[in-house]
Amino acid sequence: MKVAVFSTQSYDKEYFNLVNEKFNHEFVFLEPSLNADTAILAKGCGGICAFVNDKVDEKTLEILHQSGVNTIVLRCAGFNQVDLEAAKKLGVKVYRVPSYSPEAVAEHATAMIMTLNRKTHKAYNRVREGNFSLERLIGFNLHGKIAGVIGLGQIGLAFAKIMHGFGCEVIAYDPVVEKTPSFIKLADLDTLMTTADLISIHCPLNEHTHHLMNRKRFDQMKKGAMLINTSRGAILDTHAAIEALKQGKLGYLGIDVYEQEDKLFFRDLSESLIEDEQILRLMSFSNVLITAHQGFFTTEALTEIAQTTLLNLSHAEDGFSDAEKSSADPNRLV
Ligand code: NAI
Repeated sequence: MKVAVFSTQSYDKEYFNLVNEKFNHEFVFLEPSLNADTAILAKGCGGICAFVNDKVDEKTLEILHQSGVNTIVLRCAGFNQVDLEAAKKLGVKVYRVPSYSPEAVAEHATAMIMTLNRKTHKAYNRVREGNFSLERLIGFNLHGKIAGVIGLGQIGLAFAKIMHGFGCEVIAYDPVVEKTPSFIKLADLDTLMTTADLISIHCPLNEHTHHLMNRKRFDQMKKGAMLINTSRGAILDTHAAIEALKQGKLGYLGIDVYEQEDKLFFRDLSESLIEDEQILRLMSFSNVLITAHQGFFTTEALTEIAQTTLLNLSHAEDGFSDAEKSSADPNRLV
């Protein structure tokens, strides 16, 4: 299938071309992100490939559909950026990569915890400048602490296993999960918020989880607790997080995702004026660590993403009926 790949980065090209040796798709790599203004770039293609910050809303879908696109493959797990109802009405098939190396994201969340805790980023800079002082680098043992996991799916479970390995007591909140390995205690969200020393978010963004971490939740937290969000930016109310940091209630914040990340992340803005006041405020705290949506960014994950995405394109092209495909294929959303 001829496919327009939006928001292309060098590594997307590299891994797609490598994996495509086993498939026979034709890619048009496009740097712009997908929205109603750029959708027309897909003209002449049967499919498009989109990423986390592409806007696949109703208007964009209509333009894509009019341009001949009948298949959308997301090269990510989350699908909050797509209006599935509108896609269904237009008869546009939508696929995603539901699972690719959950360990990649779980390990990144752990890296954020260790950096915030043991301040290795500061130690690195100090030592390079000949400053061997330990002043203000003190951390805490993870062993014996309570780790709270919000969303016990694939990534949450991988993260829980790592925390268990550190000797943490692991508690988890997930409204769907009923059974867990014996080292994880299920709890309600109030209990998790009030008892955990560190909390890591691994649930999807939807109408129930938008601003799930809000002022009320920060008030409930133990003073000085740590919050990590590698899931989706809008699960965290950024304004409330800044207030909780100012009050010293939130002891540490690590975010790999940000509410307004579509205007910032995946770009080199080092020579530009950054106008987003909230991210500038967050950057000013020494106990805040921001990474630009790199949780997925491992060789293993990129290989799996490319393989599943190209396979999804082949499935979209094959001979099954639509009804057969959507019920049999776990990667297909509509
Ligand atoms: P998953 O679908 O395996 O697990 C999500 C879990 O969240 C499910 O068990 C579900 O029951 C639970 N959940 C749903 N609503 C909830 C709520 N209101 N409160 C608490 N839990 C709730 O998904 P997976 O693969 O573990 O991914 C989780 C999220 O991680 C994705 O939705 C995506 O947003 C994010 N992600 C981030 C990446 C990054 O690079 N930073 C890469 C991949 C995923």
